[in-house]
Amino acid sequence: MLVIRLVSGPAGPDALVLPVRPGGPDSPDSLASPDPTVSPASTARLVPTAVPLGDDVPAEAAAVLPATRLTGAAGEVREHLRPGGSPARLWLLGVGEGDERDWRTAGAALARAAKDETQITIALPGEATAALRGLAEGLLLGSYRFRLTEAGKRPALAEVSVLVDDPDALAGTLDAARATAETTRLARDLTNMPSSTKNPEWFAAQVAEAASGRPGLHLRVRGPEELAAEGFGGLLAVGGGSASGPRLVELDWRPDGARTHVVLVGKGITFDTGGISIKPVPAMKLMRKDMAGAAAVIAATLGAAELRLPVRVTTLAPLAENMVSGSAFRPGDVIRHYGGLTSESTNSDAEGRLVLADALAYAVRELKPDLLIDLATLTGANAVALGKRHAALYSENDALAAGLLDAITAAGERAWRMPLADDYVEYLASEIADLHSSPAQGAGSVVAALFLREFTGDLRDRWAHLDMSAPSWSDDTHGELVKGATGWGVRGLLRWLATLG
Ligand code: BES
Ligand code: MN
Ligand code: ZN
Repeated sequence: MLVIRLVSGPAGPDALVLPVRPGGPDSPDSLASPDPTVSPASTARLVPTAVPLGDDVPAEAAAVLPATRLTGAAGEVREHLRPGGSPARLWLLGVGEGDERDWRTAGAALARAAKDETQITIALPGEATAALRGLAEGLLLGSYRFRLTEAGKRPALAEVSVLVDDPDALAGTLDAARATAETTRLARDLTNMPSSTKNPEWFAAQVAEAASGRPGLHLRVRGPEELAAEGFGGLLAVGGGSASGPRLVELDWRPDGARTHVVLVGKGITFDTGGISIKPVPAMKLMRKDMAGAAAVIAATLGAAELRLPVRVTTLAPLAENMVSGSAFRPGDVIRHYGGLTSESTNSDAEGRLVLADALAYAVRELKPDLLIDLATLTGANAVALGKRHAALYSENDALAAGLLDAITAAGERAWRMPLADDYVEYLASEIADLHSSPAQGAGSVVAALFLREFTGDLRDRWAHLDMSAPSWSDDTHGELVKGATGWGVRGLLRWLATLG
């Protein structure tokens, strides 16, 4: 994987990247050139760098800038050759207004532009904390390739040297960016993995491998017998149709002296056929991603441990494969969840809420945390309501919702708060069980959230639910996202956990 180094100089002999931003000295006129046969000049200008680069390099960059037609928007890249010179090439990189988000976009664009390079150097401005955080995350996330996609291809960019005035002062910022990006990459890898490999047992083994030898991290994995003995009826019902039995992963980051305890729950359906209520072909083709919530919460917990965040985090990942077979659960079955509440399921495709219900009830009764958050690729209705890039956030707690939204936004992800509308609670009525799990009256994402709320007990107002079906996957490569799994939630959760003490 790409190595990022902080250096105070000198620049390497090969490509040197200089940031530019909007606002050339004559921008308004240069855009409106009176002669249509003459290209408008650039409207960008060079960003002063923290480390002096000698006189000739900035002067030369300034001289070529007008002809580049750069606007300075984040992510623009132009190359200028310097035959015989050192550095041999200058790259001008648009960094927009220079906030963290723009730098993340610029970093990802740079990683893509430099895919055939071995080593490049980039000079940062002074006051580089936000720039470095964004740049490093953008480089590491934009250069992500799933290993099966990349097998046999030439290795990508190996090293980026970042020129700053005080490398030691910025080491912590780079560590935070690196931990965030590496755990996001892990979540992407898990989510992209085909379900022929990724069954519940395999997923649990991946967690064990990632957590092993890390002080402060404790792992417990329950198999089908333990789940039956303890009454995890939702997880057993959903996993019952598969030849690969269900698991419950419980990963605990327990730092000394933590004053806050957070439980994170993530939906871990390693493949969702819909079960007996089988999905049509187009709806099923991407259902290997139906464990993206579990991947995100596990990765965030590993990140919290890596960064030694002073907050206790217990992560629950109920893992099951929702299959069609003679042992699959049926529409109309009544399921007894952990803790005793029963639900009637008339659609075996509403499986996520059944496994989450067990995990939430277990967290409330046994772990008794201060805050309870779940992430799940729960409903197609998430995308109907909000499109492809926003998760739906539900919480009764305004402060918790605001804290999560702030952290998610600062981390470069997106979510939108949705109502836990009590009007629809009546849809959850069943004649044969405590709750109906899959009412079909509409408001799919809201009703799923209301169902989950029934299992939050006295943590009801300290719980938040994120339906992240839509942003868990990207259909194309843009910004720091690469086509495929996005790792949505890891960045936001890590930022949010860092605000708790
Ligand atoms: N895993 C799906 C939700 C999903 C859909 C995730 C598209 C990502 C992309 C979930 O298990 C499901 O099938 N939900 C049903 C619920 C319905 C049966 C009440 C849905 O959204 O249609
Ligand atoms: Mn389903
Ligand atoms: Zn599902």
